Amino acid sequence: MECFVIDGKNILQGSVTIKGAKNSVLPIMAASVLNSSGEKIELTNIPDIIDMHVMKKILEYLGLDVHYAKNTLSINAKNRPSHTISDDLMSEMRSSIFLMGPLLARLGKVRVTYPGGCSIGPRPIDLHFKGLEALGARITEENGSIFAHAPYLKGAEIHLDFPSVGATENLMMAAVLAGGKTILHNVAKEPEIVDLQNFLSGMGAVVRGAGTDTIRITGVEALGCCSHRIIPDRIAAGTFLIAAAVTGGEVLIKGVIPSHLDAVVAKMREAGASIDIFDDKMVIRKSKLRGVERVCTLPYPGFPTDLQAPMMVMLALARGNSTIVESIFEARFRHAFELRQMNAHIDIDGRKAFLQGVKEFRGAEVTATDLRAGAALVIAGLAAEGKTIVRDIRHIDRGYERLEQDFQRMGARITRVRDFSKVEAAGC
Ligand code: EPZ
Repeated sequence: MECFVIDGKNILQGSVTIKGAKNSVLPIMAASVLNSSGEKIELTNIPDIIDMHVMKKILEYLGLDVHYAKNTLSINAKNRPSHTISDDLMSEMRSSIFLMGPLLARLGKVRVTYPGGCSIGPRPIDLHFKGLEALGARITEENGSIFAHAPYLKGAEIHLDFPSVGATENLMMAAVLAGGKTILHNVAKEPEIVDLQNFLSGMGAVVRGAGTDTIRITGVEALGCCSHRIIPDRIAAGTFLIAAAVTGGEVLIKGVIPSHLDAVVAKMREAGASIDIFDDKMVIRKSKLRGVERVCTLPYPGFPTDLQAPMMVMLALARGNSTIVESIFEARFRHAFELRQMNAHIDIDGRKAFLQGVKEFRGAEVTATDLRAGAALVIAGLAAEGKTIVRDIRHIDRGYERLEQDFQRMGARITRVRDFSKVEAAGC
C-alpha cells in the first residue's frame, strides 16, 4: 500500500501549472457515447488521474475505442455501444452513473448498478432517476441491478429539488437527443456544467443556459465528433493556493481561470491571505492567517465543498477561532479526526466544525479517507513539525495527477513510498 512520507516545516516557493479538471473530464468522457458519426473525438488537457483511467475502462467495456497519451484522449464510438456496465466498474467511482443519460439517449436502454465513490455521505441518485423518468424513461431495480428503458425520450420541463451537479449533467446528456424541448430548472451552475455544455454544442447539440439556474435544450437527431480542451481544475488550484498560504510560501499558480475561485479567494483574503490575480494566473504571498467567523459550503458560486477539507487545515493553523458548515454532504468531516492526531483543535457537531487555531501541527501517521481529505492531510504534513505519513494515497491519485511531484517542484520534502511496511521498518 503506497503512502506519502513528508518531512515537515516546508515553505512552498515557485510555481505550479494547473491541469485539466477531474470533474469536467469525467462527464465529458461519458458524453462521448453520444457520438454516432464514426469519427474520433479529441480531448486535450486531460489529467492523468485514476478516475479518468477508470472512465476509460468503462468506455472500452461498452465497446468504444479509447486512446490516452500525454494528457490527450481520442474516443470513437463507431460501433453501437453495449447498454450494460459491469458491477465492479460501476462500483469504482460515483461518475459511473453519468453513463445512464447518454446510453439511454443513444440506445433507449441501460443496465447499471449503484455507483461507488468517496465515502462522504449516502449520495443517493433519486434526482437522476426522477429527471430521466420525466423524460420518459421507465426505471426498475432487480437484485441490485438498475434497468432503464426509453424507446423514445421526450423533452420535458423538470425542476431539480437540489442543484445536483451529477443530476444536471446526466439530464443534459439525456435531453440532447430527446424529441422536442427540455427545460431544466434549479440546475447546478458549476464551471464544469458550462464545459459540458460547450462540449455537447461542439458535437451539434442545441443547449443553452449552463452557468445559470435554467438550461434549455432542443433535441436533435444525432450528434457527431468534435475537439475540446478541458477547463483547468479549480479545486486543484484552490488546493495549491491553500497549501502555499499554510506553509507561509510565495507561489505562482499558472493556467487557471481565477473567476472560478472567487468564493475561495474572498474567504482566504478574509483570513488574511495576500493573493494577486492576473488573467490566467494567481500569486499568493506570505500571509499572516487569522480565523474567520464562518465558512459555509454551498453550490457554485458559493464556497466549494471540495475545498472544505484543505480550508479546515488553513483555519486550524490560523490565529483565533473559526466555524465551518458543510451544507452539501452529510459526512464530510472524517479528516478532522485525522487532523486531531496532529494537534488540531476541532470539535464536530453534525454539519458544523468548530476550530480553535493552534500555532503548530505535530507530524503523525494519518489516513486519507477521501480524495480531498487526503490532499488536506498532505498540506497539514507539509506545515507540521516533524514527519508525517499519509496512508491510502490511492484516494489522492484518483483526482490529483502526481500531487507529490508538484509539491516537490515547489521545494517540499515529500516522497511517495510504494510499500508502507518499508516505512515502518525504517522507523520513520
Ligand atoms: C459532484 O458530485 C462532484 N463529483 C463532487 O466532487 C462534488 O463534491 C459534488 O459534485 C458537489 O459539488 C464529480 O463531479 C465527479 P451532487 P455529485 O449530485 O454529482 C445530494 C470531488 O472531491 N443528491 O451535486 O455526486 C447528494 O447526496 C468530488 O471531486 C441527492 O440527494 O454531487 C449531496 O448531498 C466529491 N440526490 C448533494 O446532493 C441525487 O440524486 C450534492 O450532490 C443527487 C445528489
